[in-house]
Amino acid sequence: MKKVVYPGSFDPVTVGHMDLIRRAAGIFDQVVVGVLINSEKKSPLFSLEERVIMLKDACKGIPNVSVESFDGLLIDFVRATGSDTIIRGLRELMDFEMELQLAQVNRVASGGIETVFLPTDPKFSNVSSSVVREFARYRVALPDFVPENVLQAMVNKGIVESTKQED
Ligand code: PNS
Repeated sequence: MKKVVYPGSFDPVTVGHMDLIRRAAGIFDQVVVGVLINSEKKSPLFSLEERVIMLKDACKGIPNVSVESFDGLLIDFVRATGSDTIIRGLRELMDFEMELQLAQVNRVASGGIETVFLPTDPKFSNVSSSVVREFARYRVALPDFVPENVLQAMVNKGIVESTKQED
């Protein structure tokens, strides 16, 4: 059985992340979504617990996906899950520069954990959690960028005022 780990901060999970999770679930037998506990991001939009709950909810229709949180090094988490493979999405060249370095470091430091990359669907290439967070700072929701349950959570928490997009 081939298990892959999809790590990230997921603050919050976006439709781009969900597309990658679905596609990974079609390629691998099991996908473990790993939510980083100690994100260096200074002002997270959602707590770890909230991020995990929203991801579990968004993934509940995909049977071979599980969601866990992790702290410390990614390669240690990958080993603990019994996997030897990481998957990451690539939206643009800037992603590639960063991801290539991470993949190479993780492979060398772990003695063989591989990273596979999936190109983002072009319709999601401008979607990112950081853009969602930036707009949320001004109380503006981006309904096309996040799953429905995340949008609801943002409204329920009072982070954004309305789910309606301006004309
Ligand atoms: O969603 P993100 O923030 O782009 O995900 C980044 C993540 C979680 C993959 C990366 O920060 C990570 O692997 N952190 C765990 C700590 C670690 O293993 N660092 C070593 C790589 S230099």
